[in-house]
Amino acid sequence: MKKFFAAVVLSLSLFKASADEGMWLPMLLGEQVYADMVKRGLKLTKEQLYSINKASIKDAIISFNGFCTGEIVSSQGLIFTNHHCGYGAITAASSVEHNYLRDGFYAYNKEQEIASGLYVLFLDKITDVTAEVEAAVKGLSWSERLAKLPEVTKAITDKVIDKENGLEGRVYSMFKGNQFLLYTFKRYRDVRLVAAPPESVGKYGGDTDNWEWPRHTGDFSVFRVYAAKDGKPAEYSTENVPLTPKHFLPVSIKGFKDGDYAMIYGYPGSTNRYETNYGIKLKNDIENPSLVALRDMRLKYMHEQMVKDPAVKLKLADNYATVANYWKFFDGETKQLLKFKTQQQKEAFEKQFTDWAKGKPEYQYLMSDYAKNYAAWTPYSKMRQYINEGVLGSPLAAFAATLIPLEDKLMKASTPTADLKKALDAATAARKAYLQAADLVSDEKIMATAAMMYYNDIDKNQHPVSFYESMKANFGSLKEEGTFKNWSKAVFSGTMFLDDAKWNAFVAKPEAVKLQEDGAFAFGAGFLKNYTGKYASLYNTFMSKNAELGKAYMKGIMEMNPAAVKKMYPDANSSMRVSYGNIKSYRPRDAVFYDYVCTAKGILEKYKPGDYEFDLPAKQVALLQKRDFGQYIDKAKNDLVVSFITTNDITGGNSGSPVIDANGNLLGLAFDGNYEALSHKIAFDKDLNRTICVDVRYVLWCIDKLGGASNIIKELKLVK
Ligand code: ARG
Repeated sequence: MKKFFAAVVLSLSLFKASADEGMWLPMLLGEQVYADMVKRGLKLTKEQLYSINKASIKDAIISFNGFCTGEIVSSQGLIFTNHHCGYGAITAASSVEHNYLRDGFYAYNKEQEIASGLYVLFLDKITDVTAEVEAAVKGLSWSERLAKLPEVTKAITDKVIDKENGLEGRVYSMFKGNQFLLYTFKRYRDVRLVAAPPESVGKYGGDTDNWEWPRHTGDFSVFRVYAAKDGKPAEYSTENVPLTPKHFLPVSIKGFKDGDYAMIYGYPGSTNRYETNYGIKLKNDIENPSLVALRDMRLKYMHEQMVKDPAVKLKLADNYATVANYWKFFDGETKQLLKFKTQQQKEAFEKQFTDWAKGKPEYQYLMSDYAKNYAAWTPYSKMRQYINEGVLGSPLAAFAATLIPLEDKLMKASTPTADLKKALDAATAARKAYLQAADLVSDEKIMATAAMMYYNDIDKNQHPVSFYESMKANFGSLKEEGTFKNWSKAVFSGTMFLDDAKWNAFVAKPEAVKLQEDGAFAFGAGFLKNYTGKYASLYNTFMSKNAELGKAYMKGIMEMNPAAVKKMYPDANSSMRVSYGNIKSYRPRDAVFYDYVCTAKGILEKYKPGDYEFDLPAKQVALLQKRDFGQYIDKAKNDLVVSFITTNDITGGNSGSPVIDANGNLLGLAFDGNYEALSHKIAFDKDLNRTICVDVRYVLWCIDKLGGASNIIKELKLVK
C-alpha cells in the first residue's frame, strides 16, 4: 500500500524525467518542464516555444472550430487538420454527384476552394485572473459562488472583446476551480476547404480500426484561413485574401527513428486525472455500459440504411461517426479501467489522503461526503443515460423535445403575439433543417427500441406517468417487441412533424393541445419533461456538490505534497496545452511487439474489395503497388510511412494537432489514442499510452500523387 502511494505521488508530480504524462500550460513550459524537454532532445529556446512578444510556435496552432486542433503550414494561411475534423464540412460540400467524401477533393487553385462556415481561433495570450475572480466571489456560499461565476467571468471577457480585430476571451477554471486563466483569442470566420483525401484514405479501416494501433488511416484534410485585405478577421467574402500568419510550421520529410523527440501542441478537451473511486465505479457499473448498449442499437439501425443508399450515407455519416467514435471509446475505457484496476488504485490513494486529512476539518470528511453524494444520485443515473442516449437518440424525438418552450408559450395566455410568431418561425426553420438530415427508416426502429429498452431496463417508478399504460391499451402487451414497433410506426405515420399539411395547419392555428396529442412530442418531450421535472434538480445538486468536493480535494492533494505543486499540470479543459515525449514502439501484451510505424505495405494487406471499411479505389491500389513514393519514401523502411506512434499525453480535442520535432518542424498530425490505454482520461499509463499520428509524408504523397495537387505542396516549406 505504502509503495503504491509513493507511485501515485510520483506520477502526479512528474518527478521522473522519463514520465511522458502531462498536458502543460504553454506559458509555464519555461518554468516547469523546459529543462526536461531539452534533456529529451528539444533544440529550441523557451521563447520559440511560447512568447507573447515575438512569433513562436503557439502562433501556428489554432483551435479548429472549437472541437479540434489545426496548424498553419504556409505563409498563405494553409491549415492541416484531421479528416475526421473536417468531416462535417466535407460531407456538407458533397452530393451524390460530387461525392467528395467518397472520392476526395482537391482545389487546384484558390478559386476552387469551398467556403466551410467554420471558424478558427489563434491564441493571443494567457493571463492569470484568479485574484480578480476570487475577489468577486469572496464570502459567498458554494451555491452562490457557482451562480455568480458566469457573471464574473463574463465581466472579465467583456473587457477583452474587440469586434473589429476579432479579439475575444475565455476564462478557464484550472485545478478544479482553484485557479482561473484568461485566454485571449483572435477569431477568423472565413475558412475554406482546400483538400480532403477519399474516405479510403481519410477513414481507412473505419470503426474497426478506430482507437487502435496498428493503423493505416490517412486522417488529414486541408483548409485555408482568409482575412480582409488589411489582415483583420472578416465574414466570408470573395474580396478576402489568404491570411498571412505570424508563424507557420515548416514540414519535415527527413523522417525519424524510434526514440526521437516529439511534442504536440493542441486543445485537449477533458480529462479527470483526479477522479475518485466513486466516479469510476459509477462509470464502470452504469454510465458506460448503458451508453454503449444504446449506441450499439442506434448505430446498427443507421448502418443498415447507410450501406444501402449513398444519399442516406451522406446524410447520416457525420452523426454516425460522432456516435460511433465515443461508443467504442467508452466501451474500451471501462475495459481498460478494469484491466488496470484503476478504481482500486484510487481507493488506496484516497485512504492515504484520508489518513493525512485526520484532524483537518477542511479535508477529513471529503471521502465520506463523496460516498454520500454518489449514493444519493446513483439510483437515477441509468435513467439519465437512457434519456440522453436512448429517447433523445431518436432524431424525431429529439426534434420534438426542442418544442417544449413553444408548448410553454402556447399554454400561457399572456404570451405576446409577436413572441409566439417568432417561436413558430424558429420551429418551422428547425423542422426544415431536421427533415433535411432525417432518415425515417432507421429512426422509426431507433424510437421503437429506445422506448422498449427504457421500459425493460429502467425502474418503474421512473417511468413517465401513464405513458406505457396508454401504449399497452392501444398497442398490446409490453412483453412483445411488436407492440413497440407498431406504436413507433403509428407515431411516424401520425406526427405533424413529418406532414407538411398538418404542420401548416398547426402553425396557422397553434394550440398546445395539438402538440401534446402528437405521438412524437408525447414521447420526446414527455420523457424529457419527466426527467427535468423530477430528477434534473437531483442531478444538479449532485454535480454542484461534486464540484465543491473536487475543489477541496484538489487543494488538499496540493497541500499534502507541496513540493510536487510546481510540477503539476491541470486537467484538460479545451485550453491550449503542450505535451512532449518520444516516438516509441511498444509491447501491448505478452509476446507481442508493435513497431513505431505503419507503412503502405499494410494498406494493401488490409485491402478487402467491396468491404465497407477496407475497400480501396483502383487508382490508389495501382499507385501503391507501383511504389511511386518519390521524395516521400522512408529510406530506413524502404516504404512509404503512413503513420507512427508517440508517448505523448493527449485526448479528444487534440485531433489534428501537429506533432513537432526537436527543431520545430512538422512530422505529422495526431489523430487518435490506442486501445490498450483508453483509460487515459482518468489515468495515464506510462508503459502503454500511445498517440497515433498520420505521417506528414503520407499526407503529402496523397495530395501530390493521389490528388495531383502539386500547387499545395509548392506552398509548403519542406525540410529535407
Ligand atoms: N478516434 C478518433 C478521435 O477521437 C476519431 C477517429 C474518427 N474515425 C472513426 N472511424 N470514427 O480523435
